[in-house]
Parts: sequence; C-alpha cells; structure tokens
Amino acid sequence: MIELYLDTVDIEQVARFNTCLPIKGVTTNPSILAKSGRGLNQVLPELARIIGTSARFHAQVVSQTVEDMLEEAKHINALPYDMVVKVPATEVGLAAIKKMKAENIQVLATAIYSTQQGFLAALCGADYLAPYVNRIDAMGADGIGVVADLQLLLDQYCLDSKILPASFKNTQQVMGVLKVGVGSITLPVDVAAQMFAHPAVQPAVDQFIYDWQMCFGSKLSFES
Ligand code: E4P
Repeated sequence: MIELYLDTVDIEQVARFNTCLPIKGVTTNPSILAKSGRGLNQVLPELARIIGTSARFHAQVVSQTVEDMLEEAKHINALPYDMVVKVPATEVGLAAIKKMKAENIQVLATAIYSTQQGFLAALCGADYLAPYVNRIDAMGADGIGVVADLQLLLDQYCLDSKILPASFKNTQQVMGVLKVGVGSITLPVDVAAQMFAHPAVQPAVDQFIYDWQMCFGSKLSFES
C-alpha cells in the first residue's frame, strides 16, 4: 500500500488526520522544525504517541560535509523510532548517501528538482526520493512530469527506491503524482484537508438527515 505521510510537526493536526486517515508517519525538514520552534527530541515522542508503534519519521541532516552528514545520520538513526534520514541530493549529499547505505541507514534523498538528479540518488541507493512538485511548477517546469519520468526510470532499471513526492499546493498536483503510481507521498495539512473537501458533500449529507427526520423523527436506521 502507498505510504501516506503528513509534512508537518503540528501535533493537533497530526492527531486530527491520524483519526481519519491511515497515516504512516511524518516528514520534517529544518524549516518545518524551525517554524514550530521545537526540535526532534520534543516532537518525536508526542508524534509517536499519536501515530503509534508503526510510525515512521523522516528527519533531515543539517551538516555540510560528507563525514559530518554521516555522523549526524548515525545519531538520527539511533533515535528510538523508525527513522529515515533525509539528505539533500547535492554532490556532497550523494556521497553521504552512499556511505549511509553502506551502514544500512534508511535514507531519503531530498531537494530533488529534476528527473536526472533523482535518478542519481536512486543509483546511490536512496530508499526514498523526494521531488518538490510545487516548487518545480513554480519555476515554470512540470513537477508531475519530473515524477512520472523518474518513476519510469526506476521501473526501467529495476531500482527499488520509492518516490515520495513532496511540496504540494493543491489536490491536482497530488492526483497527478498518484496517477503515476508512486509508492509514498507527503501532504501538507491544508492540502490533506482539501482532499476530502467538496462544497457539495455537506449539503448532500444534510439533505439525507432532513428527509430521514421528516419521516422517522429521532429513530436510528436500525430502529426504523
Ligand atoms: C519535503 O521533503 C520538503 O521538505 C517539503 O515538502 C517542501 O515543501 P514546500 O515546498 O511546501 O516547502
């Protein structure tokens, strides 16, 4: 089954969506954590309590060199959760990914803006690849196209990496990458909410209740 993540550390929102959706875990990045003002050691225990033992968390290194990234990744990996280490797919990052995979660390290659960049990260052994769909669109390119081409290459070359598309601003972008058949996805909470929001839904539900009560009053269905 596709792995569904929330791209947030907002505890209330994670609790909200975890009650109605099969959330696999949470993806974070340095900006998300900085914006919340809370670090991994504060948010992870709370998130794990909400999502449960199957929760998987993606946390990004902030080190700048290969050796420092590897050292940081080992610490992230040692946290008492199912951790995936996010590494920007730069030249330095790709070198670090190779070393992390040699140490059996789960890795997500992030900040992917092109198919070729994602393909190289897959060759280096990244378990997940995160193309930034909306950011690519915002640059006048085709985010869904990048994801589609990347999935094609993964299939063609029998590479095991899962695409985990990130950076969405609307449900059209989400639907576009889902049609490609990606193995995972991370949604910001506003886009997750848009996925089940449609102006016709509540009026339809209200009409059912009105019709029912006109005929059966306060009886429940099985009492009618
Ligand atoms: C995921 O890996 C990225 O950190 C994140 O989804 C980027 O999203 P944004 O473009 O909305 O900042």
